[in-house]
Amino acid sequence: MELLKTKTGLKGALTVPADKSISHRSIMFGAISHGRTTIHNFLRAEDCLSSVAVFKALGVKIEDDGEDIIVEGAGFNNLKAPKDILDAGNSGTTMRLVLGILAGQPFDSKIAGDASLNRRPMERVMGPLRTMGGNLQGKDGSEFPPIEVTGTSLSAISYEMPIASAQVKSAILFAALQAEGLTTIIEKEKSRNHTEEMIKQFGGEISVDDKTITVSGGQKLVGQEVTVPGDISSAAFYLVAASLLPESDLHLKHVGVNPTRTGILDVLQDMGADIQQVGFDQQNQAADLLIKNAPLKASEIGGEIIPRLIDELPVIALAATQAEGTTIIRDAQELKVKETNRIDATAKELNKLGANIETTDDGMIIHGPTPLHGGAVDSHGDHRIGMMLQVAALLTEEAVELSHPEAINISYPDFFTDLSSLI
Ligand code: S3P
Repeated sequence: MELLKTKTGLKGALTVPADKSISHRSIMFGAISHGRTTIHNFLRAEDCLSSVAVFKALGVKIEDDGEDIIVEGAGFNNLKAPKDILDAGNSGTTMRLVLGILAGQPFDSKIAGDASLNRRPMERVMGPLRTMGGNLQGKDGSEFPPIEVTGTSLSAISYEMPIASAQVKSAILFAALQAEGLTTIIEKEKSRNHTEEMIKQFGGEISVDDKTITVSGGQKLVGQEVTVPGDISSAAFYLVAASLLPESDLHLKHVGVNPTRTGILDVLQDMGADIQQVGFDQQNQAADLLIKNAPLKASEIGGEIIPRLIDELPVIALAATQAEGTTIIRDAQELKVKETNRIDATAKELNKLGANIETTDDGMIIHGPTPLHGGAVDSHGDHRIGMMLQVAALLTEEAVELSHPEAINISYPDFFTDLSSLI
């Protein structure tokens, strides 16, 4: 498809779609808790609908009344053996977190994904779950899906994480809630903490001391009302577009600003962006963001901030192509095992449009500023690469053609309509 253009920058106000990570977890916590969970502002995008489908297949009653999603949970013990192979679609979060739940169930199950998900590494969750007593097997003895889980009971572990990953941490936490004893997880770097926050919100007990998390098994969680804030990972595309486009004056409403997710705000502000946070909603950890165009300079991005902006790195790389100086992104090797290899895809596609990006083992070196020009680019079937390329197209005079734009439905089905309303 031919991507959208603007002559005026981004102007106006927008409520970005609901947070994907929190939407997934609200279904999962609803399913394993006792009683009704009502989810306001659930993200009805393909990834989260994969989580809905998986829990329906596990016998949980989930209804969409057009406004809210209602989950009738009855605890871990009420999940039923699925009749078919569970389908996680493109969603790594669904597969990895659900493995933590399935590992401690008495029944056998099997979970698969689409071609992209079936190439993504699962040993990172299967390893610790096996240490807890879980019985999980990848395809033909590999670490790749489909994963077969043989029903068993689990015992607590103490686990020092070799990678910074909220998905791995969350899988272990879901297993720990079913395990005998007290589980301790020591994070490599602090990653998004929505699972920990929701254990508390659903009435459970969890102790978090910097990077050490402790939780006991056998707790009874109780259904809640959840309001999902806007997704800062979706807001990211507008934050960069408005920062780069002259005359922009943009207001993003009710964006989640949980500090484990706001690395992009820190980096863009360090680069010179004009972003203000107003109207903090403490209960939902959300705020409005006001963005105006500003000249950007290069930055060095690495270390503990990486998990706080991991999904935003492709669009941050785009921002860096327009910044004065050389931006270095390091410690981001996890980008290679996302929906696609996002280091290669970002560099390859932006370089087609005139960027000067070198790839490294754990990141990118971006020489800026380079004017971008038109061309034909590919999302690689990755929603975030597709949206990043649409932002790049706003910066070119000539047309940009995008192959596989449908990937964007994974997290943001209304992306093009929303963007059109601002240009
Ligand atoms: C997510 C964690 C991150 C992120 C993904 C969503 C989550 O993955 O990239 O989009 O909801 O827990 P990793 O845990 O693999 O870093």
